[in-house]
Amino acid sequence: MIKKPLDLSHEFLAEVLDANSTALDATMGNGHDTIFLARLAKDVYAFDIQEEAVMQTKKRLQEAGLTNVQLILDGHEHLDRYLDSINAAIFNLGYLPKTDKSITTKPATTLQALQKALDCLQIGGRVALMVYHGHRGGAEEKDAVLTFVKSLPQTQYSTMLYQPLNQINTPPFLIMIEKLK
Ligand SMILES: C[S@@+](CC[C@H](N)C(=O)[O-])C[C@H]1O[C@@H](n2cnc3c(N)ncnc32)[C@H](O)[C@@H]1O
Repeated sequence: MIKKPLDLSHEFLAEVLDANSTALDATMGNGHDTIFLARLAKDVYAFDIQEEAVMQTKKRLQEAGLTNVQLILDGHEHLDRYLDSINAAIFNLGYLPKTDKSITTKPATTLQALQKALDCLQIGGRVALMVYHGHRGGAEEKDAVLTFVKSLPQTQYSTMLYQPLNQINTPPFLIMIEKLK
Protein backbone atom coordinates (compact mmCIF):
# COMPACT_ATOMS: atom_id res chain seq x y z
CA MET A 1 0.00 0.00 0.00
CA ILE A 2 1.12 3.55 -0.69
CA LYS A 3 2.91 5.13 2.28
CA LYS A 4 1.11 7.67 4.43
CA PRO A 5 2.94 10.97 5.07
CA LEU A 6 3.43 10.19 8.79
CA ASP A 7 4.94 6.77 8.01
CA LEU A 8 7.28 8.31 5.46
CA SER A 9 8.32 11.00 7.98
CA HIS A 10 9.47 8.28 10.37
CA GLU A 11 11.31 6.31 7.70
CA PHE A 12 13.01 9.50 6.52
CA LEU A 13 14.31 10.27 10.02
CA ALA A 14 15.14 6.67 10.94
CA GLU A 15 17.78 6.63 8.19
CA VAL A 16 19.88 9.24 10.04
CA LEU A 17 19.35 8.02 13.60
CA ASP A 18 21.49 5.56 15.54
CA ALA A 19 22.66 4.86 19.08
CA ASN A 20 24.98 7.90 18.99
CA SER A 21 22.54 10.46 17.71
CA THR A 22 20.41 13.24 19.18
CA ALA A 23 16.86 13.94 18.09
CA LEU A 24 14.33 16.70 18.63
CA ASP A 25 10.57 16.30 18.91
CA ALA A 26 9.44 19.92 18.59
CA THR A 27 5.77 19.11 19.27
CA MET A 28 5.50 16.27 21.78
CA GLY A 29 1.68 16.07 22.05
CA ASN A 30 0.71 12.55 23.09
CA GLY A 31 4.29 11.37 22.64
CA HIS A 32 3.94 9.07 19.63
CA ASP A 33 6.83 10.71 17.76
CA THR A 34 8.84 11.05 20.98
CA ILE A 35 8.68 7.30 21.56
CA PHE A 36 9.57 6.57 17.96
CA LEU A 37 12.67 8.79 18.25
CA ALA A 38 13.63 7.47 21.69
CA ARG A 39 13.78 3.90 20.39
CA LEU A 40 16.38 4.89 17.77
CA ALA A 41 18.43 7.78 19.16
CA LYS A 42 20.78 8.14 22.11
CA ASP A 43 19.10 11.30 23.39
CA VAL A 44 15.80 12.98 22.63
CA TYR A 45 14.62 16.47 23.53
CA ALA A 46 10.85 16.87 23.38
CA PHE A 47 8.99 20.16 23.72
CA ASP A 48 5.40 21.15 24.36
CA ILE A 49 3.67 24.13 25.92
CA GLN A 50 0.91 21.99 27.49
CA GLU A 51 1.46 20.26 30.79
CA GLU A 52 -1.03 17.61 29.71
CA ALA A 53 1.22 16.67 26.79
CA VAL A 54 4.24 16.31 29.06
CA MET A 55 2.31 14.15 31.54
CA GLN A 56 0.89 11.95 28.80
CA THR A 57 4.28 11.48 27.14
CA LYS A 58 6.01 10.81 30.48
CA LYS A 59 3.51 8.03 31.15
CA ARG A 60 3.99 6.47 27.73
CA LEU A 61 7.78 6.59 28.08
CA GLN A 62 7.63 4.95 31.50
CA GLU A 63 5.39 2.20 30.15
CA ALA A 64 7.84 1.64 27.30
CA GLY A 65 10.83 1.66 29.68
CA LEU A 66 12.53 4.51 27.82
CA THR A 67 14.73 6.83 29.90
CA ASN A 68 16.65 8.77 27.25
CA VAL A 69 14.20 11.68 26.77
CA GLN A 70 14.24 15.16 28.24
CA LEU A 71 10.64 16.37 28.44
CA ILE A 72 10.61 20.15 28.27
CA LEU A 73 7.57 22.22 29.16
CA ASP A 74 8.47 25.22 27.01
CA GLY A 75 7.90 26.55 23.51
CA HIS A 76 10.02 25.03 20.76
CA GLU A 77 11.01 28.58 19.80
CA HIS A 78 13.32 28.44 22.86
CA LEU A 79 15.00 25.19 21.88
CA ASP A 80 18.43 26.81 21.69
CA ARG A 81 18.29 27.25 25.48
CA TYR A 82 18.36 23.46 25.86
CA LEU A 83 20.40 21.98 22.99
CA ASP A 84 22.92 22.92 20.36
CA SER A 85 23.36 19.88 18.10
CA ILE A 86 20.85 17.45 16.60
CA ASN A 87 20.81 14.81 13.87
CA ALA A 88 17.06 14.80 13.28
CA ALA A 89 13.92 16.69 14.19
CA ILE A 90 10.20 16.28 13.78
CA PHE A 91 7.51 18.96 13.85
CA ASN A 92 3.89 17.82 13.98
CA LEU A 93 1.98 21.07 13.49
CA GLY A 94 -1.55 21.86 14.60
CA TYR A 95 -3.40 21.05 17.83
CA LEU A 96 -3.33 18.12 20.21
CA PRO A 97 -6.13 15.73 19.19
CA LYS A 98 -9.06 15.48 21.64
CA THR A 99 -8.04 18.62 23.57
CA ASP A 100 -8.45 22.39 23.29
CA LYS A 101 -8.37 23.10 19.55
CA SER A 102 -7.44 26.71 20.20
CA ILE A 103 -3.97 25.73 21.46
CA THR A 104 -2.13 25.26 18.18
CA THR A 105 1.30 25.81 16.79
CA LYS A 106 1.60 29.34 15.35
CA PRO A 107 3.39 30.66 12.25
CA ALA A 108 5.85 33.03 13.99
CA THR A 109 7.01 30.61 16.68
CA THR A 110 7.03 27.64 14.31
CA LEU A 111 9.35 29.50 11.93
CA GLN A 112 11.61 30.62 14.80
CA ALA A 113 11.85 27.02 16.00
CA LEU A 114 12.43 25.67 12.50
CA GLN A 115 15.26 28.14 11.90
CA LYS A 116 16.84 27.22 15.25
CA ALA A 117 16.46 23.50 14.51
CA LEU A 118 18.21 23.99 11.15
CA ASP A 119 20.98 25.98 12.87
CA CYS A 120 21.54 23.05 15.30
CA LEU A 121 21.27 20.39 12.62
CA GLN A 122 24.42 18.41 11.81
CA ILE A 123 25.50 18.10 8.16
CA GLY A 124 23.52 15.18 6.75
CA GLY A 125 20.83 15.70 9.38
CA ARG A 126 17.13 15.77 8.56
CA VAL A 127 13.95 17.59 9.59
CA ALA A 128 10.43 16.28 8.96
CA LEU A 129 7.40 18.57 9.19
CA MET A 130 3.93 17.07 9.30
CA VAL A 131 1.68 19.95 8.30
CA TYR A 132 -1.90 19.70 9.59
CA HIS A 133 -3.74 22.77 8.32
CA GLY A 134 -7.50 22.16 8.52
CA HIS A 135 -7.97 24.07 11.79
CA ARG A 136 -8.38 27.80 12.36
CA GLY A 137 -5.08 29.51 11.52
CA GLY A 138 -3.78 26.36 9.87
CA ALA A 139 -3.81 27.79 6.35
CA GLU A 140 -1.66 30.78 7.41
CA GLU A 141 0.82 28.49 9.12
CA LYS A 142 0.97 26.16 6.11
CA ASP A 143 1.68 29.12 3.79
CA ALA A 144 4.33 30.53 6.14
CA VAL A 145 6.14 27.19 6.41
CA LEU A 146 6.02 26.53 2.66
CA THR A 147 7.35 30.03 1.90
CA PHE A 148 10.15 29.57 4.43
CA VAL A 149 11.21 26.16 3.16
CA LYS A 150 11.06 27.26 -0.51
CA SER A 151 13.46 30.09 0.35
CA LEU A 152 16.17 27.80 1.80
CA PRO A 153 19.32 27.87 -0.38
CA GLN A 154 19.44 24.75 -2.54
CA THR A 155 23.20 24.45 -2.15
CA GLN A 156 22.75 24.02 1.60
CA TYR A 157 19.43 22.17 1.89
CA SER A 158 17.57 19.57 -0.10
CA THR A 159 13.77 19.79 0.38
CA MET A 160 10.81 17.64 -0.67
CA LEU A 161 7.02 17.74 -0.40
CA TYR A 162 4.88 14.58 -0.04
CA GLN A 163 1.18 15.28 -0.31
CA PRO A 164 -2.09 13.46 -1.06
CA LEU A 165 -3.63 14.94 -4.21
CA ASN A 166 -7.18 13.57 -4.37
CA GLN A 167 -8.25 13.46 -0.74
CA ILE A 168 -11.21 15.59 0.37
CA ASN A 169 -10.95 18.15 3.18
CA THR A 170 -7.43 19.19 4.17
CA PRO A 171 -5.25 16.11 4.59
CA PRO A 172 -1.90 16.62 6.30
CA PHE A 173 1.23 16.60 4.19
CA LEU A 174 4.93 16.09 4.80
CA ILE A 175 7.85 18.43 4.18
CA MET A 176 11.30 16.84 4.30
CA ILE A 177 14.54 18.79 4.69
CA GLU A 178 18.11 17.49 4.57
CA LYS A 179 21.14 19.63 5.44
CA LEU A 180 23.79 19.20 2.75
CA LYS A 181 26.57 21.40 4.10
C1 LIG B 1 -0.37 17.95 16.39
S1 LIG B 1 0.09 18.01 18.09
C2 LIG B 1 1.52 16.97 18.17
C3 LIG B 1 1.21 15.51 18.14
C4 LIG B 1 2.34 14.65 18.63
N1 LIG B 1 3.50 14.70 17.78
C5 LIG B 1 1.93 13.20 18.93
O1 LIG B 1 2.65 12.28 18.51
O2 LIG B 1 0.92 13.02 19.60
C6 LIG B 1 0.83 19.64 18.22
C7 LIG B 1 1.38 19.95 19.60
O3 LIG B 1 2.15 21.15 19.51
C8 LIG B 1 2.05 21.79 20.76
N2 LIG B 1 2.52 23.18 20.63
C9 LIG B 1 1.84 24.29 20.25
N3 LIG B 1 2.64 25.36 20.27
C10 LIG B 1 3.89 24.93 20.66
C11 LIG B 1 5.14 25.55 20.89
N4 LIG B 1 5.31 26.87 20.69
N5 LIG B 1 6.17 24.79 21.29
C12 LIG B 1 6.02 23.44 21.49
N6 LIG B 1 4.86 22.80 21.31
C13 LIG B 1 3.80 23.52 20.91
C14 LIG B 1 0.60 21.64 21.15
O4 LIG B 1 0.42 21.83 22.52
C15 LIG B 1 0.32 20.20 20.67
O5 LIG B 1 0.48 19.28 21.72
